[in-house]
Amino acid sequence: MNKDVEKILIGEEELDAIVSRLAKEIDRDYKDSERLVLVCILKGSIVFMGDLMKKLSVPCEIDCMKVSSYGAGTSSSGSINIALDLMRPDLPACDLLIIEDIIDSGNTLSYLVNYLKLKGARSVRTCTLLDKPSRRTVAFTPDYRGKEIPDEFVIGYGLDYAERYRALPYVGVLSPSVYRENE
Ligand code: IMP
Ligand code: MG
Repeated sequence: MNKDVEKILIGEEELDAIVSRLAKEIDRDYKDSERLVLVCILKGSIVFMGDLMKKLSVPCEIDCMKVSSYGAGTSSSGSINIALDLMRPDLPACDLLIIEDIIDSGNTLSYLVNYLKLKGARSVRTCTLLDKPSRRTVAFTPDYRGKEIPDEFVIGYGLDYAERYRALPYVGVLSPSVYRENE
């Protein structure tokens, strides 16, 4: 185990089972969709989306957006900045499924869903691997949710702290000593 990980919260086998279950739910709901587009929210959702898309049976396209609500630390700034937008002239024909790593305050996803609906997508839903409902500052419920977790800062399987730890194959709790050193 990485020395900066306090404990493993979700191991590789459990992650695989969670992603398989989500893929089944998405397959069931999008079997009649003519243009399902998975929208990866960079960079935290890269690993999750890569695993999820391999398990889908329904045809899908992929796209990416980059937004930021966090600085380098462990608490949200609240304001959303779109650094990479969708550039699709066919948006009115697209059923967008936003793929997110984790919902914390709810700011990012509630903003994005609204933004993409206003931009003209045919439909917009959300799929998150992790959810910390105790941290919400805006009411938001994802359409697909992998696992609810307690209020602890997690890393791995795409999630970072100051751009590190994304390649860990499990989701772990970051040792508080790591971010205390940087505060
Ligand atoms: P929200 O807008 O507050 O819901 O924040 C969502 C974003 O904050 C996620 O996409 C992550 O990038 C980041 N985030 C929230 N909690 C964690 C965590 O425990 N570890 C790593 N990133 C996190
Ligand atoms: Mg993110």
